[in-house]
Amino acid sequence: MNKKIIQREYKKKIKLINKYNNFYFDKSESLVSDKEYDDLKKDVISLESRYDFLNLKNSPSKLVGHKPSKNFKKAIHKVPMLSLANAFSEQDLINFEKKITNFLSKKEGFEISYSAEPKIDGISASLIYENGNFVMGLSRGDGKEGEDITDNLNTIKDIPKKISSKDFPDEIDIRGEVFIQNSDFEYLKDKFANPRNAASGSLRQKNPEDTKKIPLKFIAYTFGFENSLKVQNQSDYLKKLKQWGFKINPLNKLISGVKNLIENYNEIEKKRADLDFDIDGIVYKVNDFSLQKRLGNVANAPRWAVAHKFSSNKAVSQIKDIEIQIGRTGALTPVAKIKPINIGGVQVSNATLHNEDEIIRKDIRIGDTVIVERAGDVIPHILSVDFKKRKKDNLKFIFPEKCPSCGSKTIKEFNLTTKKEDAVRRCSSEGYSCEKISVEKLKHFVSKEAFNIDGFGKKIVENFWKLKLIKFPQDIFQLDYNIIEGLEGWGKLSVENLKYSINEKKNISLERLIYSLGIRHIGLENAKLLSKYFKTFQNFKNLSKTNKFNDLLNIDGIGETQVNSIKNFFLVSINLKVLNELEKLLNIKVSKNEKKNGLLKDKSFLVTGKMDKISRAEVKALIEDNSGITVSSVSKKLNYLITGEKPTKKKIESAKALKIKIIDQYEFLRMLNKTS
Ligand code: IVH
Repeated sequence: MNKKIIQREYKKKIKLINKYNNFYFDKSESLVSDKEYDDLKKDVISLESRYDFLNLKNSPSKLVGHKPSKNFKKAIHKVPMLSLANAFSEQDLINFEKKITNFLSKKEGFEISYSAEPKIDGISASLIYENGNFVMGLSRGDGKEGEDITDNLNTIKDIPKKISSKDFPDEIDIRGEVFIQNSDFEYLKDKFANPRNAASGSLRQKNPEDTKKIPLKFIAYTFGFENSLKVQNQSDYLKKLKQWGFKINPLNKLISGVKNLIENYNEIEKKRADLDFDIDGIVYKVNDFSLQKRLGNVANAPRWAVAHKFSSNKAVSQIKDIEIQIGRTGALTPVAKIKPINIGGVQVSNATLHNEDEIIRKDIRIGDTVIVERAGDVIPHILSVDFKKRKKDNLKFIFPEKCPSCGSKTIKEFNLTTKKEDAVRRCSSEGYSCEKISVEKLKHFVSKEAFNIDGFGKKIVENFWKLKLIKFPQDIFQLDYNIIEGLEGWGKLSVENLKYSINEKKNISLERLIYSLGIRHIGLENAKLLSKYFKTFQNFKNLSKTNKFNDLLNIDGIGETQVNSIKNFFLVSINLKVLNELEKLLNIKVSKNEKKNGLLKDKSFLVTGKMDKISRAEVKALIEDNSGITVSSVSKKLNYLITGEKPTKKKIESAKALKIKIIDQYEFLRMLNKTS
C-alpha cells in the first residue's frame, strides 16, 4: 500500500475514535458498540506497530487520559478539602454561635446569617475549571491529596464541561457532592449496600465506561481556590452556581437565629423520607465571606461551619458477650458483641458501650435485648435495653479493675477541663510494658497518617509482635528480613517490597514523627503546631532537659491538657530511649514555616487586657498567620505589648522598663494593613 493511503486511513480512524470519545465523555452517548470501538482502536495500534511513520499525538495508544490506569494518579488540592464539626442538639448550636461571636468579639445577640444546606450523603469531589473548561476532577482523598478521577467525573451529566458565562472565574475549583438518587439505587440494590457506597464504588471504577452505567448526580456547594470570583457571600455564590449551569440543592435557605435553624431542621427532617436523595443533616455556614475569612479554621474543620446531624438509624438486637478492648492510650473500652443486624444497609455486629459508667447507667447486661443506633460514620452504640425481655440469668457485668492484658491497676484520671473524674478507665502501665497498648501504639506508628508504611498493616504488627520481631517503634527500622522471608506467607518479593516501603519512610517530617509517637491528646493538628514551634527534632527532644513545658501554652491551640500529656510522655524513660533510637535511624526533616515572610516576621507579641474589636484568639491567629510569635511573659525578647481594657499593670511597667513598644488593638490591626 502506498504511504499516503496508509496515512489517510490511519488519520480517519483516529478522527473517528476521537468523535466517539467526545460523544461518550461529554454527552454520555455511545455511537458504536463496545466491540466496534475496541476493534477500531486495535486497528490503529496495529497500524502504528507496522509503520514507523505513523505517530500522531492524539493516537489512542498515547492517550492515557480517558481510561485511567489501574491506580489513579494523585494530585494535591491547592486548597485542602476540610471536614465539618458535628452538632447534634440545640445546645450544640448555641455553643457554636457563642464561639463565633466570642471569636469575632461581638456582643451576644449579634445577628449572624447562615446558609443552611441539607447535607447530601454522597462523595465529595473537586472540579477544576480553567478558562471555563473542566480540566481536572479530584476525589477528596485525605483532604490534602486526592485521586485524579477526571474521566469518571466526565461521565456525569450534571457536571458542566464548558462554561462561557462572562463572570465565571478564569480559574476556580468548584466543590460538591456526587451521589445516586434513591429511585436509581433501586436497580443497584443487589450490588451495593447503600446509595453512598454505590456512588463511591462507581466513582472509583477503573474504567469510566463502568462509571457511566450508573446514574450519578452532582450538586455543587462550595469552592477551593479561585481567581477573580466576585461574590461576597455564600447565598450569592449558590445563585451564581445555578447561573453557571450547576445543580444546587433546592432546599438551601438563608437563616439567622438558632431558633429558626431548629425550625428549618425539624421541617426538613419531616420531609426527609420523601426526598429522592439521602441527607444526613444540615450544614450551616456563616454566610458572609469576610466573616468566614476572619474565623478561619481549627484543626481540619472551619470555625464558620457546622453539620447539624439528623438522628440515626436504629435496630433491635441481642448482646451475646461484652469484651474489653484496650486502646493505644490505655483506655479500656467495653464492646458489645451483638447478633449481626443490618442497620441502614450496613451489617453491624459490634457496638461500643463507651465506658463503665455507661454500662451502669443503662444497666446493660450480657443476653439483653437492646436497641442499637448507628449515626453516619460514628461507631454503633447501644441506645437502650428492653427490660421486659430481660431474663433472670442475665447477670450484671463486672468491669475489670486490673488491665486484662498486663494486670496493672486500672485508674480513672481527673479531667482538668470538666473538673471531674474521667468516665474512662485506663491501664496505669507506662511506655511499652503492656502488650495490648504496645501493639496498638505500633499500629498507630505505621498507620496512614503517621509513618504510612505501605503493606505494614495491623495484622502484620500483631504477627511481628507475637514473633518478638518488634517491641518498640525503632525495631521497625531494624527488622531481620532473613527471618521474615522464612515465615509462612512471605517470600523474597514481598520481603523486598516491605523493606522498600520501610526504607522509603525513613525520611520523615517532624510533624508526622511527633504524631506517630501517639502521645495522648496530640493528634495531627497539635503535632503540626508543635513541629512548627520546635522546628527541629533536637529542640523537641531537648524538652526533657529544658523542662520548658509551660512555654508550650503560648502555642495557639495547645492547652494545659496537652502540656500535661507531653510532660508525662517525657517523664517515662523508655520514651526518651525511643526518641534517641529513632534519631539514629531516621532522617527527620526540619519543619518549614509555611508563611515565612509574613508582615510580622520575627516579631513577638504579648496581649494584656480585654479588647473590644477583636478577641484574643483572633489576635493570636492573626499573629501566627503573619509569621509572628506570641509569648507569655514580658522579657527582652518581646517586641510589642498589645494592651486592651484593664491591662495587667505589672506587664505595662515591665514593658516600659525594658523600653518595649506598647500598642493598642488599632495600631496592631494597622500593622497588618487592616483597618478596624
Ligand atoms: S462544605 C469546609 N457543604 O460534608 C466545608 N459540605 O463533613 C466542607 N457535604 O466532605 C464542605 N453537603 O462531602 C459542604 N452543603 C454542603 C455539603 C457538604 C454535604 C459533605 C462534604 C464534606 C462533608 C464534611
